[in-house]
Amino acid sequence: MNHQLLKNKRGIIFGALNENSIAWKVAERAYEEGASIVLTNTPIALRAGEINKLSEKTNSKIIPADATSIEDLKTLFTEAQNQLNGKIDFVLHSIGMSPNIRKERAYSDLDYNFLNKTLDISAISFHKMLQVAYQQDAIAENGSILALTYIAAQRSYEGYSDMANAKAMLESICRSFGMLYGEKNGVRINTISQSPTKTTAGQGIGGFDLFFDFADKMSPLGNASADECADYCIMMFSDYTRKVTMQNLYHDGGYSTTGMSQKLIEQYQKSVK
Ligand SMILES: NC(=O)c1ccc[n+]([C@@H]2O[C@H](COP(=O)([O-])OP(=O)(O)OC[C@H]3O[C@@H](n4cnc5c(N)ncnc54)[C@H](O)[C@@H]3O)[C@@H](O)[C@H]2O)c1
Repeated sequence: MNHQLLKNKRGIIFGALNENSIAWKVAERAYEEGASIVLTNTPIALRAGEINKLSEKTNSKIIPADATSIEDLKTLFTEAQNQLNGKIDFVLHSIGMSPNIRKERAYSDLDYNFLNKTLDISAISFHKMLQVAYQQDAIAENGSILALTYIAAQRSYEGYSDMANAKAMLESICRSFGMLYGEKNGVRINTISQSPTKTTAGQGIGGFDLFFDFADKMSPLGNASADECADYCIMMFSDYTRKVTMQNLYHDGGYSTTGMSQKLIEQYQKSVK
């Protein structure tokens, strides 16, 4: 599929770690659709070296930035505009990490330093990048900014722990900054609430495989893949969605509005017999 939907557009993509990453697929699709992009991730993630393959494939420069560092973000937005010869048309925030989940701390026994890190990396980084871009006037007229989120912002899921709180904050930042940025120069800000997806971050959640299977059976269309998420992001970056802003957009095969599916009823019947 190639419709040159992003022809002449310039973008920054945060969060491509390896070829399973949702951001990786978005970068590939954005390049196919004619965009010029800059890739960014933390210096530690870049050291793993995987991203060099993506940079070659998409003919893009890599600029390191820890998304919690204002200094790094200022350098990133300045250098990206120089590199791409103009203001930025689209940005993808595809970042998430919880030290509490990594260290298997129960939600009733959170480490609060870890909680601060979870919120800073997974939510406040979104505000920081928006604020830096806003103050530098780095986003072009009618630009489009996306962050990836999960339905645990609205509903409780064991295992998602403090990431649920981070996602709720992320979605709230989208609405608050969306109003400001829309009024300033028509910039759209949205979050995409994606199905469970087999990535490094996804598989770090306790019980992920069972959970992935449950969501797949609950969704009339099945789970949305990373490639399908990339297609949705391309549409949101394109000029076809110029009046969509401040929304949390479910990309989940219908999971969020399904009460119970026939597939799960059949599975449940087997287990109670
Ligand atoms: N995988 C899923 O099931 C799923 C479902 C819904 C939403 N999401 C969201 O999608 C986004 C992308 O995750 P993914 O599933 O592709 O996993 P991933 O592990 O491939 O990507 C997470 C990225 O966050 C980056 N990151 C961590 N700390 C950072 C920091 N301080 N500064 C900059 N980057 C940092 C990592 O280096 C990595 O590239 C996350 O926001 C995640 O919560 C994932």
